[in-house]
Amino acid sequence: MINVPKGTKDMLPSESHKWQAIERAAKKVTSLYNVKQIRTPVFEHAELFLRSIGDSTDIVNKEMYIFEDKGGRKMALRPEGTAGVVRSVLENNICESVPQKLYYIESVYRYEQPQAGRYREHHQFGAEFFGSELPCFEIELLSMAHMFLREIGFNDLRLRINSIGCDKCRAEFNKALREFLASVNDKICGDCKRRAEQNPLRTLDCKVPSCREVYKAAPRLNDYLCDDCKAHHAQVLKGLDAAGIKYFADENLVRGLDYYTRTVFEFCDGDLAVLGGGRYDGLCEQLGGKHTPCVGFGCGIERLIAAAETRGIEFDDSAPKVFVAAQCDAARAECACLTEKLRAVGISAESDLMNKSLKAQFKYADRQGFLYVLTVGEGELQSGVFNVKRMADGSVTAFDRAALVDGIKRLVG
Ligand code: HAM
Repeated sequence: MINVPKGTKDMLPSESHKWQAIERAAKKVTSLYNVKQIRTPVFEHAELFLRSIGDSTDIVNKEMYIFEDKGGRKMALRPEGTAGVVRSVLENNICESVPQKLYYIESVYRYEQPQAGRYREHHQFGAEFFGSELPCFEIELLSMAHMFLREIGFNDLRLRINSIGCDKCRAEFNKALREFLASVNDKICGDCKRRAEQNPLRTLDCKVPSCREVYKAAPRLNDYLCDDCKAHHAQVLKGLDAAGIKYFADENLVRGLDYYTRTVFEFCDGDLAVLGGGRYDGLCEQLGGKHTPCVGFGCGIERLIAAAETRGIEFDDSAPKVFVAAQCDAARAECACLTEKLRAVGISAESDLMNKSLKAQFKYADRQGFLYVLTVGEGELQSGVFNVKRMADGSVTAFDRAALVDGIKRLVG
């Protein structure tokens, strides 16, 4: 017996309605915001992720699935969605005219220690907006994220938001942070010692409790923001106020990817981020394109479902409508024919595929949640009058053959 790989999960049929409800909500809000879908390959050249996410991040350093293909190329399963989308946008000149607003729903791979809400394969609904450096770009994106979360039924996820500044102000901050890290070098973990050298901002993202304690005394990024970054951040917060989106301005939020500039944010369920993102004004240029300011987010679908379940949020699970039951073998051909006629007018329908007895067919229809059963036997074939039983209360409605399909259509609504 071969089992599912560690850190991965099957999406079982009993769960499929939840995934479909989330995809429906994503498609609804993206359509309302005029955001078009994009799909990119599940694997890319590994270098794309090194150059975008950053080679000193945990995602690239510890968690990437890297492999050499038969042609000796170094490839990687995507550990996130943004890099592939930016690569495609540049390669296909999609940013010739801006703004461009794109979304995706895709699987993502990170070799993590599996635990609640942390998988080696997870799925993201993500959005990437290209072209504007104005604070209204963040507000457009966050309003869409907010509407998506509300559409599913969330009204209490905490939005944490911060500015990590631009290259200019971060250089000043990094200098101060490096000095601080040197002074506490004996109190921080091995990873942080490495981060202190390569990319000091990453230390503030460390999950080790003793490091977190030490960093309470670290210099504060917000004290180093330049005037432009400060003004931008203030405008974003003002825009959120105007949009009626509650937030918590959290100076400790830095996020785990290197491409961010200025705004970073997360919608959280307790300590766990369900949806996270920010602005990344330098990434297009970094990957060989022209300067294009961008904002984006990724929302973890597994975490979203888990958070919905703890809140008792229900996902629509539309029941199949009509089971067409054969009372005798002579009726089976007619059942198949009627089933197709119902489907042709948009009613979900099924008939027996297993030569089951009538009793067993009713049992199946009941277990599958069919709302109605139409029974066809010799009597019905001769009289041309058909009974449709409503499973919820056993009430029966009779239709003449000529009015059957239309009648059922009215009945099921
Ligand atoms: P991220 O914060 O690494 O950002 O991931 C986005 C979301 O994916 C997280 O908030 C979380 O819900 C989910 N997630 C991440 N890792 C796991 C995991 N191991 N298991 C389950 N769920 C997980 C990004 O990926 C950026 N690309 C977001 C972005 C788009 N920024 C700008 N544009």
